Amino acid sequence: MTNVTTFRQKKRRAEPISMVTCYDAWSARILNDTDIDSLLVGDSLAVVMHGFDSTVHATVDMMAMHVAAVARGAPDKFIIADMPFLSCSKGIKVALDAVQVLMQAGAHAVKIEGADHQLDVIGRIVEAGVPVMGHLGLTPQSIHKLGGHRIQGRDDAGGEKIIKDAKVLAAAGCFAIVLECVPSLLGERVSRSIEVPTIGIGAGPGTDGQVLVLHDLLGTDPSFSPTFLRRYADGHTFITDAVQAFHQDVTQGAFPALKESFQ
Ligand code: KIV
Repeated sequence: MTNVTTFRQKKRRAEPISMVTCYDAWSARILNDTDIDSLLVGDSLAVVMHGFDSTVHATVDMMAMHVAAVARGAPDKFIIADMPFLSCSKGIKVALDAVQVLMQAGAHAVKIEGADHQLDVIGRIVEAGVPVMGHLGLTPQSIHKLGGHRIQGRDDAGGEKIIKDAKVLAAAGCFAIVLECVPSLLGERVSRSIEVPTIGIGAGPGTDGQVLVLHDLLGTDPSFSPTFLRRYADGHTFITDAVQAFHQDVTQGAFPALKESFQ
């Protein structure tokens, strides 16, 4: 199984790290049969699985239920769980309680958005023996402050701030950092500035690894097509065709056949 040590080794050997989101046991079982390096139980599950309009709606209980399902389905994979909205902003005890719930549900590490205001809590979690992944650039839990899903670090000051934050997170003990929606050149500069691996999403080819939301790479939502997304399947057509075919067979009396029935 991949772990924090292999993350570091992969960066040293310039071997790209792959990560994909996973929220449930049935997809975890499938992903367990792939070579993917790590699974992220991202708070994006609030949007993808629960239909909310932002990750602000994810809670610790919600995250824990999905982490436990993923852990049951993918026993061989390194699982990282998002610390949900405000779980790190109400003091160390609340944060450590949330970490305990997520780790006991089956996570091997947690991910925390932001830098400045999170350093104390990151330090305490790392000190407690729990690996922490940072998250910079577009941080969806702050979507209302950022004014929407915008590319971050476009100007010099913004770019320098992200580089500085990445160094600070690495010094605080983060074992890796997600870089979301930043210009490619900045993605590469951040990755060269720190020894811990960067995992990009919309951060260009110069990061040490890449992450995508599973449902996006499977093409389940044809209306979602950001520049950074490559679809590896037409999941929407695949699923609608299969269900349409089932519907037709049922309505035309073609399912079940004799061999699909108990004699
Ligand atoms: O919640 C999530 O899925 C994430 C990825 C987009 C990195 O944080």
